[in-house]
Amino acid sequence: MQRRTFLGGLALTGLAGPWLQAWSADTMTSSSTPPGLPLLASDMLPAGGSLREIPKLANASSVPGHFQATLTAAPLAVPFIPGQAATEFWAYNGGLPGPLIELFEGDTVAITFVNNLKQPSTIHWHGLPIPPEQDGNPHDPVPPGGRRTYSFNLPEGSAGTYWYHPHPHQNTAEQAFRGLAGPLVVRSRHDPLAGLPERLLVVSDLKLDRYAAIAPNEANDWMNGREGQFALVNAQHQPVLPFASGGRERWRIWNACSARYLQLALPGSTLTLVGTDGGLLEEPQSGLTEYLLAPGQRIELIIDAGSRRDRVELSANIYARGKMGDVTPDHIMPLLTVDFTTVTATEQAALPLKLGSVPDLGAAAVRKQVVFSEKMSMANGRHGVQFLVNDQEYDMQRIDLVSRVNEVELWEIVNHSDMDHPFHLHGTQFQVVEREFDGVVTPVSFRAWQDTVNLRSSEIVRIKTVQRWPGLRMFHCHILEHEAMGMMGQLKVV
Ligand code: C2O
Ligand code: CU
Repeated sequence: MQRRTFLGGLALTGLAGPWLQAWSADTMTSSSTPPGLPLLASDMLPAGGSLREIPKLANASSVPGHFQATLTAAPLAVPFIPGQAATEFWAYNGGLPGPLIELFEGDTVAITFVNNLKQPSTIHWHGLPIPPEQDGNPHDPVPPGGRRTYSFNLPEGSAGTYWYHPHPHQNTAEQAFRGLAGPLVVRSRHDPLAGLPERLLVVSDLKLDRYAAIAPNEANDWMNGREGQFALVNAQHQPVLPFASGGRERWRIWNACSARYLQLALPGSTLTLVGTDGGLLEEPQSGLTEYLLAPGQRIELIIDAGSRRDRVELSANIYARGKMGDVTPDHIMPLLTVDFTTVTATEQAALPLKLGSVPDLGAAAVRKQVVFSEKMSMANGRHGVQFLVNDQEYDMQRIDLVSRVNEVELWEIVNHSDMDHPFHLHGTQFQVVEREFDGVVTPVSFRAWQDTVNLRSSEIVRIKTVQRWPGLRMFHCHILEHEAMGMMGQLKVV
C-alpha cells in the first residue's frame, strides 16, 4: 500500500532516476522528441492488410551444409503513417523485422555483421547453443562502421525457434525497440510436423509520438519496461491471416517486445502447444484456452479450424504483471485476425503422439541461486528504482557465478520484487523442474526446452541447466529496460 502511494507520487514528479541522468547523454539524443509529448492515436496506423511472409536471408554459400550471409544494421526510413513524415527505424538488411534466418541442424554458419549505426552493436543469437565468443556479448562490440563474422556449428538436436538481436552494453533496449530483431529457425531433417503449413508470427512493440517518430523511453518505460500503443505482427498492424484450406496450421510465435506480456488467446478455439524456445515437446499439450508468452520467449502451436468458418482475433488478453506507479490501465490488444472462411477441409487427422526428445538433464551436481529484486533509491534528491540481481547492479568487470563445462546444475531463481520478470540465460536450453509460490511447490507437468522463463512476484522457479563451452555468459531479465538498468549478471564457465 505504502509503496504504491510512494510510487504514485514518484510518477507525478516525473520520475527521473539515476539511470535517466546517466543515459540522457547517449541513449536519448538520437530521438527528435522530448519525453512526455502525446503519442500518435492508435487508429492512425492502418490495419487489416494481408499478413506477409518474412523474407528469408539468402544463403551465399553453395556448399551443402554451409550457410553464409551478411546482416547490415542501418537506419531505415519507412513511410509508416499516411500523410506523416517517414518513421526512422533501425533495421537489419532493410527489413522489419530482420530477415528470417533458416538453418538446419548440423549446419556450419558464418554470418558477417556490418554495423552502419552510430552506436556500437553486436548480434546475440538468442537461445542458440553456440560458443560464448560467437554470441555477441556486450564485451565484444562492433564499432560504428565496423564488421565481424560470427561463426558456429549447429549441433544435432538444436532444432527450435530462436531469434537474433543486438546486445551492446546499455543500448540493447533502444536498438531493439528501433527495429533491430529478427527470427531464426533451426530445422531438423526429421521433423514430425514438417508436412503442416507453417506461419511465422513475430510480435513486436512500437511506440510512436504524434509526429510518427519512434518515441524515446520515458521514466515509466524505464521502470515498467516499454510498451508502445502498437503491437505489430511481422511489422504489420493487426493484419489478416487467411487460414490454410486444410484447416490446420503450425504457428511459431515470437515475443520480441521489450516488455509487453502476451496472454495469447483465440476465442472459440483451443491452442495445442507443441514446442517452446528450444524445440518440440515430447507430446502435444492440447486444450489450452490461453498461453502466456513473456518477453523473449517463443512457442510453437497447432491451430485447428475444426468446424469454424468465421473470422476471429488472436489477441493478447490482460495480464497483471505488477506494473508500478500511475500507469494507464491495460486493455485487450488484438494482434491479428484469423480468417477461417478460407477453410474447406472438414476434419483434421490426429497429431503424432511423439514429437521431440526432451530427456531429463539428469541429477544436478551443483546448486545456485539467482535473486531478482528491486530497491527504491534516492539520488540527486530524486527518487528512483534499482533492479538488482543478487543485490547488485550489472558490472561488466565482475563475475557473479562460476560453472563447469558439462556439469548439470540446479538453479533456483527467486523473484523478490513486486513485478514479473522474465529470466533469460545465454547459450543453452534449460529445463524448468518446478515452481514454488506461497510455500507450495508445483512440479512441471511436462519437460520443455527453454531459455527464458517468467517469474511472478514472490515466485521461485527451479531449473536444470548445463553449459557446453567455456567462456562468459550473461543472464538477465528480458524486459530490456531492466536489463539496461543493470538487472543482469555474468556466469563464467570454466
Ligand atoms: Cu535476448 Cu541477453 O538476450
Ligand atoms: Cu525485469
